[in-house]
Amino acid sequence: MEKNNKLKNVLARIKNKVLIFSGKGGVGKSTVAANLAFAFADRGMKVGLLDVDIHGPNLAKMLGVENERVYASDEHTIQPVIITKNLKLVSMAFLLQDETSPVIWRGPLKMKVIQQFLEDVAWGDIDWLVIDSPPGTGDEPLSIAQLIPATGAVIVTTPQEVSLLDSRKAVNFAKKLNLKILGVIENMSGLICPYCGKEIELFKKGGGERVSNEMGVPFLGRIPIEPEIVESSDNGKPFVLSNPESRASKAFKAIVEKILHK
Ligand SMILES: Nc1ncnc2c1ncn2[C@@H]1O[C@H](COP(=O)(O)OP(=O)(O)OP(=O)(O)O)[C@@H](O)[C@H]1O
Ligand SMILES: [Mg+2]
Repeated sequence: MEKNNKLKNVLARIKNKVLIFSGKGGVGKSTVAANLAFAFADRGMKVGLLDVDIHGPNLAKMLGVENERVYASDEHTIQPVIITKNLKLVSMAFLLQDETSPVIWRGPLKMKVIQQFLEDVAWGDIDWLVIDSPPGTGDEPLSIAQLIPATGAVIVTTPQEVSLLDSRKAVNFAKKLNLKILGVIENMSGLICPYCGKEIELFKKGGGERVSNEMGVPFLGRIPIEPEIVESSDNGKPFVLSNPESRASKAFKAIVEKILHK
C-alpha cells in the first residue's frame, strides 16, 4: 500500500508519460525516443528519459553519457543523470559493471527494477517522461502499462511488410492494455541521397500510414533515413539539435507538435 502511494506521488508530478515501443527490433525506437525528448526539451519543457531496455540499453551511448553513473542521494532516492538543463536520463546502462556483460533476469525481476526506476528516482516536476522499450510486446512495455495506467503509446515501425505485420501486434497490445495510443511513426521511410538530395524508397513507403488507417489509430508521421542520424547517435549527439534543418529533424519536430496538440 505504502509502495503504491509512493509510485502515485511520483507519477502525479509527471504531466505526460509516453511509451515508445515496436513489434520489431531495430526500427529506431531509441532514436525516436532520444530525438523526441530533445525536441520537447528544446521547446522549454522539462523532460525525463527512461530507458527500460534492460538487456540492450542504448540511450546512454546515444546521448554520450555511457560513462556516467546514477547515484543514490539517500537510501531510497536515485538521482538521474543530467543531460541538459531540461533533460535527465535513467537507464540500466548506469548500473552495469561494463558494457559487454549481459543482464540475465526473468520477468518479475525486470518489473521490479522498472518500478524502482519510476518510484525511487528523483524525477521531480516534469512535463514529459519519454520511455524507450526493447523490441516487442514483452515484460518491459507490459510492466509500464501496468505501473502507469493510461500512459501514451507511440508505435514505431519501418515500411517493410515484416515490420508492419508486427506493428499491428503492437497496436493491439496497446489497445488491450488500455494505453492511450498517440499514434504510429514510420521510420526509415525513404532515404535522402546525401549527394543529390533526392529520395530513394529503400524499404518502400507509406505502410505505417496504411496500418494506422486500417487499425483506426492516428498516424504521426514519416522519418526518412539520413546517414547523419547514425553518425550522431554513435557519437552521442542529439540529431534534432545538431542538424535542425534536415528533413528528419523537421519530421521529428512536426511529430512533437502533433503530440502536443492532441
Ligand atoms: N531515420 C533513420 N535514419 C538513419 N539511421 C537511423 C534512423 N533511425 C534509426 N537509425 C539507426 O538505426 C539503428 C537502429 O536504431 P535504434 O537503435 O534507434 O533502433 P531500436 O528500435 O531502438 O533498436 P532495438 O530494437 O535494438 O532497441 C541505429 O544505428 C540508428 O542510428
Ligand atoms: Mg532501442
